[in-house]
Amino acid sequence: MAAPEPGGASLLKASGLRIEVPAATGGWAPAVDGISFELGPGERTALVGESGAGKSLTAMALLGLVPPPARLAGGSVLVGDTDMLRADEAARRAVRGRVIGFVPQEPASSLNPVLSMGFQIREALRLHRGLDGTEARRAARELLASVGLPDGEFLRAYPHQLSGGQAQRAALALALAGGPRLLVADEPTTGLDLTTQGGVLHLLDDLGREHSLALLLVTHDLAVATALVRKVLIMYAGELVETGPVDLLARTPLHPYTVRLVAAARGEPGSDRQGLRTCAAPPPGRWPAGCRFEPRCPLARQACRTTHPGLATAGPGHAVRCPVVLEGTGP
Ligand SMILES: Nc1ncnc2c1ncn2[C@@H]1O[C@H](COP(=O)(O)OP(=O)(O)O)[C@@H](O)[C@H]1O
Ligand SMILES: [Mg+2]
Repeated sequence: MAAPEPGGASLLKASGLRIEVPAATGGWAPAVDGISFELGPGERTALVGESGAGKSLTAMALLGLVPPPARLAGGSVLVGDTDMLRADEAARRAVRGRVIGFVPQEPASSLNPVLSMGFQIREALRLHRGLDGTEARRAARELLASVGLPDGEFLRAYPHQLSGGQAQRAALALALAGGPRLLVADEPTTGLDLTTQGGVLHLLDDLGREHSLALLLVTHDLAVATALVRKVLIMYAGELVETGPVDLLARTPLHPYTVRLVAAARGEPGSDRQGLRTCAAPPPGRWPAGCRFEPRCPLARQACRTTHPGLATAGPGHAVRCPVVLEGTGP
């Protein structure tokens, strides 16, 4: 599944995004700590990292959502002229659904348990596209069929009657109801069996092409990202530690954390693909003062304990937050 060519001006630009959460030790601690990236029309990027890295908080902030008790601490998210972190609610709502479609981490949480799927999708179509009556019913049926939920039976189904894979597809239909240009999908394959995962990935790929959608795929599994995107943002303890083309990073990862993710995605002995869903990094408020990966790093030196490294260019379109590996690649 090769991703389509990215193109053109920026669709979304996140700059220095910072989100704080209450620290276990009291006070506030950064959980998302200066995330910057850009997405162009039709461009597919994955945000990859272990559980607790701050991926979901980042994804939600793109829609202008910072769920309490988390709080915004800085940065901006520009979608066209709208800063999703500061614009009034009406301006943000105009972007949600119509420019950015969002499939949250627990798809069931985006579905209303007491309303049929048909009702929910018709409501989204009315809200975003102004469709009503017969038109909305036809469009809802088409939309459900396009995500692989054909027949009227899914229109009448309630969320609890759907399997995990079907709920993911229904949440996707809801996210697409407003005809967005960017889809943000948070762990769309997590918790599904392998066959169902493959089906959802193919569906995302097909829908992406059909609607020329840009995609931000959030996942703990680099293998999932490799199947679908061109570019990856590797996130560890609230910050990006390596960014670049997915094939380059999968072949020659530089950051020791990316090396570990690549080994896990390949299922190498001693690696732990499932384990990446649980959190091995320290929680917000307990990050080391120097390099945040230092306590787990096989290459760590004395300086790594004291100096917090910046993200530095490693090659065209490739950046890494590790002076130790950069030294090794220098002239
Ligand atoms: N709404 C919230 N309020 C307070 N803390 C949160 C909230 N959401 C997540 N956190 C904390 O912030 C950190 C990052 O969470 P999250 O973005 O969900 O990580 P990921 O999606 O990478 O697993 C975690 O330590 C989590 O417990
Ligand atoms: Mg998450």
